[in-house]
Amino acid sequence: MTKKIVTLSGDGIGPEIMEAGLEVLSALTECLNETYDIEAHDFGGIAIDHFNTPLPESTLDAAKNADAVLLAAIGHPKYNGAKVRPEQGLLQLRKALGLYANVRPLKIYEELKNFAPIKNVSEVDFVVIRELTGGIYFGAHELEETKARDINDYSAEEIKRIMIFAFETARKRSRKHVTSVDKQNVLATSKLWRKIADEVAQDYPDVTLEHQLVDSCAMLLITNPQKFDVIVTENLFGDILTDEASSLAGTLGVMPSSSHGESGLALYEPIHGSAPDIAGQGIANPVGMILSVAMMLRESFNESAAAQKIEDAVEKTFRDGYRTKDLGGTTTTQALTKAIIARL
Ligand code: NAD
Ligand code: IPM
Ligand code: MN
Repeated sequence: MTKKIVTLSGDGIGPEIMEAGLEVLSALTECLNETYDIEAHDFGGIAIDHFNTPLPESTLDAAKNADAVLLAAIGHPKYNGAKVRPEQGLLQLRKALGLYANVRPLKIYEELKNFAPIKNVSEVDFVVIRELTGGIYFGAHELEETKARDINDYSAEEIKRIMIFAFETARKRSRKHVTSVDKQNVLATSKLWRKIADEVAQDYPDVTLEHQLVDSCAMLLITNPQKFDVIVTENLFGDILTDEASSLAGTLGVMPSSSHGESGLALYEPIHGSAPDIAGQGIANPVGMILSVAMMLRESFNESAAAQKIEDAVEKTFRDGYRTKDLGGTTTTQALTKAIIARL
């Protein structure tokens, strides 16, 4: 049966890296069990330009009816200060699809170790489970002339389901360790967060739980990243800590993610943004996008062998010395993609 993948290329480097991701997918056609229909839709800034809204109904409907959604990146400085922003579409899409669990794995490539500004990155292997449809992102935002406020709220139910997701993730890993990150010394939401984490832990005697305050967690990610296995945290902390963690990997450009909810429909996207500073030059690192395609094949389509092929090919490509500009090299997006395909 043919599966439908809805692609949202978005803005900035989005179209360049989406093309790379789809080329890799297409190169794997022979080894896949299913055939895939690709359906592209406007989303983000490009959708504001065409439809006056970052998430047109036609795009949302298509996403809802897809077997998986692939997203590249959205956003552009030209919408700074505008009433309608591309980022609003991203939040609406995550909410509308019920994608509460964002999975952001960190892998250190042996060959890229020297590019990490941090020295002791050997043996680092963790995954961040970021709560994605609650917290301060979705509370009321009020902006007046001389004051502003943003409301952070979490229900016990929202916390419980992301905790269960994190403990289930930990259970499948060898170290079976969860670090729950909060700011319970100040925030009410964090006090509830910690209480629910302790309750859920009762159902997972095989998994160890540790609590960490977010400020010292930010420090430990640099000084002792080896200590982490599964990190679970609220929406805003997860956003910030994962961009920080990318510096262990050498570049933001290699970080993929998947987002899941109850419905079974999942969305795959690199964690970086539209990188307007390098857009249109053909020099973006496509690896975060390509690895998001691998996550899609494994998590939505049960194509673990194909996913592994992509991951191995990326590793070989780095081993053979290919480097985009973010890694100090001169390899273009297209040349890196071709090199990965040649190693599949
Ligand atoms: P960014 O992630 O776009 O870029 C940060 C820095 O990393 C830039 O110097 C950029 O050139 C570099 N970079 C990012 N991805 C890269 C890649 N694949 N290859 C090489 N270099 C890469 O973050 P920003 O500049 O703070 O934000 C730009 C826009 O992207 C904003 O509008 C923001 O809201 C949006 N954004 C969107 C998403 C998303 O679509 N999911 C995520 C983050 C930011
Ligand atoms: C991300 C991005 C988004 C977020 C922005 C663009 C709304 O930074 O996907 O990490 O904060 O979730
Ligand atoms: Mn982010």
